[in-house]
Amino acid sequence: MCGIIGAIANANVVPVLLEGLQRLEYRGYDSAGLVVTDSGLKRLRTPGRVNDLSKLVEQQKTQGVAGIANTRWATHGEPSERNAHPHFSAEEPLIAIVHNGIIENHEHIRNYLKDKGYIFLSDTDTEVIAHLIALKLKEVNDLFKAVCLATAELQGAYAIAVMEEAHQESIVVARHGAPLLLGVGKDGNYVASDASALLQVTRDIIYLEDGDIAVLSNHGYRIVNCLNSQFGEPVNRIVHESHLSNEEIGLGSYSHYMQKEIFEQPIAVANTLEMLSNAQSIAPNLFGSEAEKIFSETRQILILACGTSYHAGLVARYWLETVAGLPCNVEIASEYRYRDPIADPNTLVVGISQSGETADTLAALEYAKRLGYRHSLAICNVPESALIRQSELRFLTRAGPEIGVASTKAFTTQLASLLLLTVTLAKMRNRLSPEAEQRMLEALRHLPVALQNALKIEPEVKIWAQSFAQKHHALFLGRGVHYPIAMEGALKLKEISYIHAEAYAAGELKHGPLALVDSDMPVVAIAPNDQLLGKLKSNLQEVYARGGELYVFADADSQITSNDNLHVIRLSEHAGLLSPILHTIPLQLLAYHVALVKGTDVDKPRNLAKAVTVE
Ligand code: G6P
Repeated sequence: MCGIIGAIANANVVPVLLEGLQRLEYRGYDSAGLVVTDSGLKRLRTPGRVNDLSKLVEQQKTQGVAGIANTRWATHGEPSERNAHPHFSAEEPLIAIVHNGIIENHEHIRNYLKDKGYIFLSDTDTEVIAHLIALKLKEVNDLFKAVCLATAELQGAYAIAVMEEAHQESIVVARHGAPLLLGVGKDGNYVASDASALLQVTRDIIYLEDGDIAVLSNHGYRIVNCLNSQFGEPVNRIVHESHLSNEEIGLGSYSHYMQKEIFEQPIAVANTLEMLSNAQSIAPNLFGSEAEKIFSETRQILILACGTSYHAGLVARYWLETVAGLPCNVEIASEYRYRDPIADPNTLVVGISQSGETADTLAALEYAKRLGYRHSLAICNVPESALIRQSELRFLTRAGPEIGVASTKAFTTQLASLLLLTVTLAKMRNRLSPEAEQRMLEALRHLPVALQNALKIEPEVKIWAQSFAQKHHALFLGRGVHYPIAMEGALKLKEISYIHAEAYAAGELKHGPLALVDSDMPVVAIAPNDQLLGKLKSNLQEVYARGGELYVFADADSQITSNDNLHVIRLSEHAGLLSPILHTIPLQLLAYHVALVKGTDVDKPRNLAKAVTVE
């Protein structure tokens, strides 16, 4: 995955490209590069980050009225200057390209081009596109037509922006399976992977669709769709006004986006559940106009997701089974898409994704449809995303842009949405009395305040973080609906502090992981005062008796007291169904503070990226 941006205007666009790349860095930060018009095409690339590229620009006083740029997450070829975008076609006619996505038939095309004498200077699939376009350009002598012909031969996902040295008055862009949008400005036109990169110059945004190819100049743009014809049919795409605010995408007074996003959770959840603020009852149409009909036919739920979103699905399974009485399967999307499951048409397929772009989740959803599943619901944070467009029903988590790579507020808003879904289905299945419905409405309205209170434990967690930062491994334990929360806690710690952490259902401890317990292995336990607390306490005794050091997040009424090797931080009294959402907060804070002590790059952990648009 990468972030790409292009600009063509009446003035120097280099600052726009750099600012845009900063905004897109969450999509990958293995290298950065740009090409601008400067009599010929001038290229600057660095194996470092956008800041390093800015220094190069300054040193070389680079300017130009048109340009394209990329911040890379390496897929084909190691992170290096040689593999950094933009890539050139090595031969005349000279073109430059930036790309986000993955070309699945790149080997085949590479061999074909090598036979024709093309020389490859990088290991990337992107360079294959560059040469292919150059080859077509020789034949048709028109960059737009060459892009149409070349993209028709590509398999996989791409969003590309292309410039030709001989015709610097335009940029040609194309999208298939990876996000790309145009920005219509007063003094120029722009293209980027996401709207946040373009807010600096315009709020007028056009979301391109699969098969769209557009030509941008400083005074206009033209869009065609090439899905059904060689050189495309002209299409009109609506210009949307972006309502993203600079506060939403800026850091404000915080040190890191992750910190900001942890503390934004009360407001993010309040926004997500805003429609309940004056509601007297819970209605299915919150999930789409067809929801009532579809929900009434639903006999089973299948959840597809990756990473943190998968953990949200695991929590929802407990709720859906217990409260709505619906059987529920939760599948890792990358696994599901290669299995042969048996489709039940009365199953509602729920795709959960912060970005709505995760390649595996999108592919798993499409696969489920092909298998015969009829109905789908997206729970997603990005309104114009592919997941939203691919799904019949949709519910937006209104968390606002999440920029830190480790997901926080997206997770808790997903949980809030999934709890609302559960309660809606429970009501439709006559499993919710009017009194219980009112109690649930109250609880959901109270959730932002409860989250605010949970955040108050930060000073205690900070103290724990000091000793945690010295460790190399950690175990996380939970039971029942809190087991996925333990998984999420372990994932957060791994992602940003690089401490190896594993989560176990506490009852499984004695079947293996207990062998690992010694004074060097901190054991984090989530101990809410629910019906499994007694069982969990026995599991904790097993650790304690073997000299293990326990760090327990308990409810105020869980009756676990601190001791020599037993450290306890208390949250509020047991919060019933909301408990897993509240118990997420201390684990996020723990990971964050451990990472701070260790001095890691909290928002951009090594090797990771936020939106995983490749398999
Ligand atoms: C990446 C991110 C994770 C995220 C996962 C799924 O791995 O780093 O934070 O949970 O993708 O992303 P999605 O956008 O589908 O929720």
